[in-house]
Amino acid sequence: MLLPSHGANAQQLYQRLNMSMPETVIDYSENVNPLGPPDFVKEQWVSYRDLITKYPHPQGEPFLTAAANYHGVSSEQILIGNGAAEIFATIAIRYQHKKALIIHPTFSEYEATLAPYQTSIKEIIAIGKLPIEEVLSELEKADVIYICRPNNPTGYLIPLEEIIQIANHAKRYNCDLVLDEAFLDFIDEKESFIPYLNNFNNVIVVRSMTKMYAIPGLRLGYAIANKEIINSLRSMLPHWNSNALATTIGAQCFMETKYRQRTVDFAIKAREDFQQFLGELDCRVLPSNTNFLCFQLPNPLQSKIFFEHLLARGYVLRHTENFKGLDGDWFRVGMKKEEQMEQLKKEMTSWFEENSSS
Ligand SMILES: Cc1ncc(COP(=O)(O)O)c(C=O)c1O
Repeated sequence: MLLPSHGANAQQLYQRLNMSMPETVIDYSENVNPLGPPDFVKEQWVSYRDLITKYPHPQGEPFLTAAANYHGVSSEQILIGNGAAEIFATIAIRYQHKKALIIHPTFSEYEATLAPYQTSIKEIIAIGKLPIEEVLSELEKADVIYICRPNNPTGYLIPLEEIIQIANHAKRYNCDLVLDEAFLDFIDEKESFIPYLNNFNNVIVVRSMTKMYAIPGLRLGYAIANKEIINSLRSMLPHWNSNALATTIGAQCFMETKYRQRTVDFAIKAREDFQQFLGELDCRVLPSNTNFLCFQLPNPLQSKIFFEHLLARGYVLRHTENFKGLDGDWFRVGMKKEEQMEQLKKEMTSWFEENSSS
């Protein structure tokens, strides 16, 4: 069964399963901020109209300076992308005919973007804690290691000390570390690797604005690394790759301190609440640090019927068929507003009442 390789794609999911899509669906397979974009986006929407009549700034101002100030780095260390997805597609070019190490289960775009460049890939499967000795030993033979922190889909946050250890070891062996912090905003900047970047000429941190600020349709992400890496990545990107709407709105997003805190508090509460619910149903839950979590049914053999039952009723979970190590036996749920989480709980409770003895 070839299901869509990304969440937030309900229509295609129903099509692939040959199921008709109910009129109302709630899509828990997407994992952007359920509170929606900051209020200023709606309030100032009309004022953005004039932006489309001019070419955008080639390096992505005003976002570039705003991002540099937010992270306390030089703007020469930042590259703006049309989403983090474009940054990954560009980074992959560095590793043509080289060797990459990828820790799975993780975001499928690392492998997908490397595929056209004949990069040979070594995979390590680690659903939670890293087998650190194996990782260190494998990266000695690699040109790059990709790590997602916190990880999508598990929500696992590799301890910062371990990431520093990996970055140091990689540096010794001329290996790059590509560190995806797309979901770090849901935790705390204190957890970011960015303050350590100045000691590492081999680390590229990738960030996304689309998750925290709920603007995936606008497309905005960025890489932070040393100047040489940034210049070389920039030379591979098209001119005007970031659009003026995204960079203007994105720059303003950095000022939304209260909104970010509200979101983080919301994500923690929603996650803890849903985790407790799943525990009461005897599901296995992976401890998550972000705005989604992964769980497995007490009897994983029922995964397919459970998934399709919920789909038929308009509840779309993220399948894990294309996440190595999870292989369809787990589900990822993006946190939604309380009412929608309650609806999912109700639906799941009634499914469990009917199916728990089998
Ligand atoms: C872990 C991870 N990194 C990066 C991205 C891409 O983000 P963007 O919307 O900025 O392209 C995603 C999107 O789902 C993601 O899950």
